[in-house]
Amino acid sequence: MRPLVVVNVAMSADGKISTRERRQVRISGAIDRARVDRLKAESDAIMVGIGTVLADNPSLTVKSSELREQRVKKGLEENPIRIVVDSLARTPPDADILHKGRGSRIIAISDKADSKAVKALTRHAEVIRAGSEEVDLRELLEKLGDRRIHCLMVEGGGRLIGALFRTHLVDELYTYVGNIVIGGDGSPTPSDGPGFLREEEFVHLHLVETSSLEEGVLIHWRVEKK
Ligand SMILES: NC(=O)c1ccc[n+]([C@@H]2O[C@H](COP(=O)([O-])OP(=O)(O)OC[C@H]3O[C@@H](n4cnc5c(N)ncnc54)[C@H](OP(=O)(O)O)[C@@H]3O)[C@@H](O)[C@H]2O)c1
Repeated sequence: MRPLVVVNVAMSADGKISTRERRQVRISGAIDRARVDRLKAESDAIMVGIGTVLADNPSLTVKSSELREQRVKKGLEENPIRIVVDSLARTPPDADILHKGRGSRIIAISDKADSKAVKALTRHAEVIRAGSEEVDLRELLEKLGDRRIHCLMVEGGGRLIGALFRTHLVDELYTYVGNIVIGGDGSPTPSDGPGFLREEEFVHLHLVETSSLEEGVLIHWRVEKK
């Protein structure tokens, strides 16, 4: 069975998640970052696309030492399993996600990945193959479920989240709307890629909760199943 997929994304008041140069920007404040850290600590795994690894070089570790200790007390690794969706195995072998913090890593690739690059990554991570051209997200999630990953947090970026919505694999969405305007025609948004063309295809959301956080708003949505 595939894991529950919880997407967390921070966007500006005008709906952008970074600049048009794909440069990472601080959208939320300390309180929201602590909430994201708790969500991460409660998840079995955390996933990003290769675009985010190349743009931001995130480590995706749990930042609070208290939360890491709580995980260890429960018999878990300090950090959730970190997963990169990376068809061509382009994750740099020195990327922070492969080196910072303890815990397991998974690189999800497709048949298109270069075997030398795959070999280099197997030194640092388990490599899962799913899909012939790009990573087949449904197949990947089934494989993650087989590894007893029940709750999967997705941290972005826009193209990965867009693909998860298009394949109806998202269960919950947290959107933090921050008090900045980034602008830019090509700036990434929370759900990029081809999107939906017809209204019948749109994904519908059920509003679970809204709360004011610092100078922004946190919105928790549940995806309505068709
Ligand atoms: N504000 C936030 O909350 C937040 C969070 C994270 C990231 N970001 C921002 O988001 C931007 C990166 O987003 P992005 O859209 O460029 O990259 P991304 O979503 O992180 O990664 C997209 C890449 O994943 C790979 N991929 C493999 N299989 C896929 C599939 N089935 N469907 C979709 N993608 C697949 C593709 O590359 P291959 O074809 O090479 O596999 C694709 O280009 C950065 O600017 C970053 O700062 C913002």
